[in-house]
Amino acid sequence: MGFLALLHSLTSYIGFLATIAWAGAVLFGAGDVARFGGLYKRIYLVMMISTGLSGVFGLIVTIFGPWLTYVFPWIGLVGLGVHNMLGARSRKMLAADTGRALIFAAIQIAVLVVVLVLMICKPF
Ligand code: HEM
Repeated sequence: MGFLALLHSLTSYIGFLATIAWAGAVLFGAGDVARFGGLYKRIYLVMMISTGLSGVFGLIVTIFGPWLTYVFPWIGLVGLGVHNMLGARSRKMLAADTGRALIFAAIQIAVLVVVLVLMICKPF
């Protein structure tokens, strides 16, 4: 279980860094899909796959570990869903409304910060 928890933490940190990279790419690439299309796609995939894996490992750790009576993993799960939905919207808006895409990316980061604090403090 320790190894799975480690995999969970590792993938979640990669997802967090990828989300920051996503926001950075939206900001500095200014939604120029023609020029940065490949880069956007790669960062987006890393962000979605790593957070997705983190969610799967998190669920396994919760169900088979001692955390089933805690509430924080389920808040994490909701946070993860919100993060992924915002990511998909941010990508959709990239070219048409880059400002909004950036706002979605910023909220993604905020959601992950809240979830990270919850995961590390395990308050309830
Ligand atoms: C992207 C969202 C998530 C992030 C950023 C995240 C991050 C983390 C991190 C960094 C830890 C290690 C904390 C420590 O070192 O004490 C952790 C632990 C944990 N996470 Fe998550 N997590 C996320 C989503 C989830 C989900 C969806 C679940 C389950 C449904 C979950 C369940 C757990 C559990 C049970 C632990 C405690 C494991 C242990 O310390 O042995 N997490 N999480």
